[in-house]
Amino acid sequence: EEGVIDVPVVVHVVHNTDEQNISDAQIRSQIAVLNDDFGKKNPDISKVPTVWQSVAGDARIRFHLATADPLGRPTTGITRTRTSVTSFAAPDPNSPDPEKRKDNKVKFSQSGGQDAWPANAYLNIWVCQLTRGLLGYAQFPGGPASTDGVVVTHTGFGTNGTAARPFNGGRTTTHEVGHWLNLRHIWGEQRGCAGDDLVADTPNQEGPNIESPAFPHVTCSNGPNGDMFMNYMDYTDDAAMFMFTEGQVARMHSTFQNARKSFAA
Ligand code: ARG
Ligand code: ZN
Ligand code: CA
Repeated sequence: EEGVIDVPVVVHVVHNTDEQNISDAQIRSQIAVLNDDFGKKNPDISKVPTVWQSVAGDARIRFHLATADPLGRPTTGITRTRTSVTSFAAPDPNSPDPEKRKDNKVKFSQSGGQDAWPANAYLNIWVCQLTRGLLGYAQFPGGPASTDGVVVTHTGFGTNGTAARPFNGGRTTTHEVGHWLNLRHIWGEQRGCAGDDLVADTPNQEGPNIESPAFPHVTCSNGPNGDMFMNYMDYTDDAAMFMFTEGQVARMHSTFQNARKSFAA
């Protein structure tokens, strides 16, 4: 389809218990959500406030489980790895401990995870038990290939199986893939009104919103419409986020012309 980018996906399921070894159906439910959300086909797009309907964007990106592995052999696009690691952490850039600053154990077989498939040809998604409270994390474009991709906790992945309220709408992966395509958090990382997500059609907002706010929520003189807390790049509950903007779509497609151009070929 013209102007639509197709992304082969490999899902690495890294499990310490049978429950964490999520089903193929749970994985397929997540791929379906990605295709809805990045195709503006999500059923809840109708909830976008009238004032923002004209900026709601179709990201024109499709995802499918890989059908060929890195050696060209047929694959389901799913790897399954038993681990002795009971929960995985994310890298903590603020830690004084250099090991913790680059903690990506789930991404390497030698540390109880699974090695990435070539990052220029696949979106790597690791699904595992993350440490308490952490739903997911992503690597922005331009980083090392060996750690490229997104990591999502199994209880925040897909819409069935172990997916648990209020994060059982598949939106953690939508959010993390947004980062993988260079989208920043909608408030611009830095709390206060100086932070900027470098996207013109998302209103400047003070900080993250959580749960399911009432519209409008005005901060940083962004009235009368206030924060676009229903954007996938905020921190609201899965059922409360349902849009990208045209400006975010342009930023993602620019990534496919630059750091991730191997997917656009
Ligand atoms: N990186 C964020 C976190 O782990 C993900 C937030 C996803 N939000 C959501 N509603 N699923 O805190
Ligand atoms: Zn985020
Ligand atoms: Ca903005």
